[in-house]
Amino acid sequence: MKPKTSHVFILGSLCLAFYCLCTADKFYKNNNHEWKKLFMVHHWPTTVCKEIENDCRDPPDYWTIHGLWPDKAGECNRSWHFNLDEIKDLLPDMKHFWPDVIHPSPNRSQFWKHEWEKHGTCAAQLDALNSQKKYFGKCLDFYKDIDLNSILLKLGITPSISFYQLADIENALTSVYGVTPKIQCLPPEQEEDTQILGQIEFCFTRELQMRNCTDPEVDHPFLQDALLTDETFMSYGLSVCEDGPVFYPPPEKSYH
Ligand SMILES: *[C@@H]1O[C@H](CO)[C@@H](O)[C@H](O)[C@H]1NC(C)=O
Ligand SMILES: *[C@@H]1O[C@H](CO)[C@@H](O)[C@H](O)[C@H]1NC(C)=O
Ligand SMILES: *[C@@H]1O[C@H](CO)[C@@H](O)[C@H](O)[C@H]1NC(C)=O
Repeated sequence: MKPKTSHVFILGSLCLAFYCLCTADKFYKNNNHEWKKLFMVHHWPTTVCKEIENDCRDPPDYWTIHGLWPDKAGECNRSWHFNLDEIKDLLPDMKHFWPDVIHPSPNRSQFWKHEWEKHGTCAAQLDALNSQKKYFGKCLDFYKDIDLNSILLKLGITPSISFYQLADIENALTSVYGVTPKIQCLPPEQEEDTQILGQIEFCFTRELQMRNCTDPEVDHPFLQDALLTDETFMSYGLSVCEDGPVFYPPPEKSYH
């Protein structure tokens, strides 16, 4: 080897080593599931049923819980299995406020199992959420504190065959809660259709304080949306509502 070649070789090896180190670091960080905020997600059962066109029989006519999701993480511990026994005390509340709208029976706990395995095992980084009882219990507490159904009613935002303006809903909620929620819609199928209100999400810090959902400085919307896409239970194509009219559909009696 001529000196020059060996220099190039050494330099090349160094670069490669450095590159590996960086990628490994990046990989480690991604794998570390470090998250910054929690989304407390409510969904509107009528919209869920509209999109799924599934076996929804008389879905609840109130906003129910979809889940409590850390951003930027999913399935953090596959060996931490769901155990219904651990949340026995919570079952009456779980059945009422956190029903599986899409697969109502016979086994509703599949939905909770999914939420725990996908999101709960990541939320469990916090001491306050590091058991199934704490995770589901905390989410139920958030749901009751937020009290979205009563607040919407007080604000005069009720299901209607006429339309709302997205900004009116968003501003009304922001004025009550002091933070901006994330509002998700079913996009219109055809141009003349109107987007349909589907989910309302409130965000929390790692200290479990409410915070704005939008924070362009720290958020990477692409990453977030990619990781929050949930094959089984979220595949119904919701996305952040566009400015303009929104349909908040009244519950239908039956989907048969
Ligand atoms: C994953 O969960 C199992 C069962 O709870 C636990 O023993 C283990 O320590 C967890 N692993 C990590 C990395 O947290
Ligand atoms: C319901 O689901 C839970 C959790 O996946 C499981 O442990 C239980 O055996 C299931 N029960 C029935 C009747 O399928
Ligand atoms: C949320 O954002 C608004 C501005 O959009 C700001 O006035 C408010 O202080 C923020 N609230 C929190 C808790 O960060």
